[in-house]
This record gives sequence, C-alpha cells and structure tokens, in this order.
Amino acid sequence: MNKSVICPGSFDPVTLGHLDIITRASKMFDRVYVAALVNATKKHCFTPEERMTFMREALQGLDNVEVVSFDGLLAEYCRKHNIDAIVKGLRAVSDFEYEFQMAIANKRLNPQLETIFLTSDADFTYLSSSMVREIGAYGGDISNFVPACVHDRIVQRLRESK
Ligand code: PNS
Repeated sequence: MNKSVICPGSFDPVTLGHLDIITRASKMFDRVYVAALVNATKKHCFTPEERMTFMREALQGLDNVEVVSFDGLLAEYCRKHNIDAIVKGLRAVSDFEYEFQMAIANKRLNPQLETIFLTSDADFTYLSSSMVREIGAYGGDISNFVPACVHDRIVQRLRESK
C-alpha cells in the first residue's frame, strides 16, 4: 500500500525536534509532505520562503520527503493531493488539547483524513520554535536546537529582528 502523510507546522524556525518527527515519519510512510504554513493565531518571524528554504536544506537526503507551502485549509490540500494522514509530534500533555482540537476539526472538514501523533524524543520535549527565537534574539547559543546547516542564517536573522 502506498501511504502518504503530511507534517504541517509553522516551523518558525525549524528545530531539531521537528527534524526528528519528520525523519521518523519518513521511515514509516512511503511519501511525506512537509508543509510550512501560516498559523492565523501566530505572528511569524521568518517569511514562508525562509521557513521552506531552511526546511528543505535541513531535510536534504530524505528522498521520500517533499517540502511544500500553500495558502488554504490543510484538510482541503490533503483531499486534493490524496494524502492519507496528518502526522504531528506531541511533546507534552500541554500540546494535547490544541492538537486534539485541530485533529477533530480536520476530520470534520475531511472525514477520510486521519491524524497520527508521534511522541517527541525525550531529548526534544522542552524544545520549541518560540524558545529558539527568544534565545537567539538575545544572542544566546542555539546550536543545540536547530540544524547545523541553517544555524548561522537563523542566528543572523534573529539578531536583525531584535
Ligand atoms: O506549528 P503550528 O503553528 O502549531 O502549526 C499549526 C498549523 C500551521 C498546522 C495550522 O495552523 C494549520 O493547519 N494551518 C493551515 C490552515 C488550516 O487548515 N487551519 C485550520 C486548522 S484546524
């Protein structure tokens, strides 16, 4: 069976926690779409193009993974592209309520669409993009939090945006 899934998120910016979830999903499914999207409830720091570029570079070498972006509903995109499921990482109970709400809403919008949660690796349960943005903006060391290949550009942008 040929199963495709999508890992959606703001990825503002990509963290090692995101990479871990996507890498694990790429071993479980035939095709993985990574969607760098707009979250209407958040003000993004990096542009959609930057978020996609960083993600593409960080995921180089994973042949069944494709980075995409679109303006519209995730549930509709999945219907149009025959995507079977959404994959999201769960770091802690605090993530659950928000993710559960989105999973139910997406299923109402597209009843064929499942949401699958992967538990975050213990090394990354504390890690979030907002934490990276704050530490980076104050000149702190974010090298343990973001992929090495995009580290310098993220650092520079965060310093500029302060
Ligand atoms: O990383 P985030 O900010 O938690 O990701 C949230 C995201 C981008 C996955 C969500 O806001 C989303 O799916 N946006 C696309 C528009 C959409 O379908 N909204 C309804 C979600 S129920």
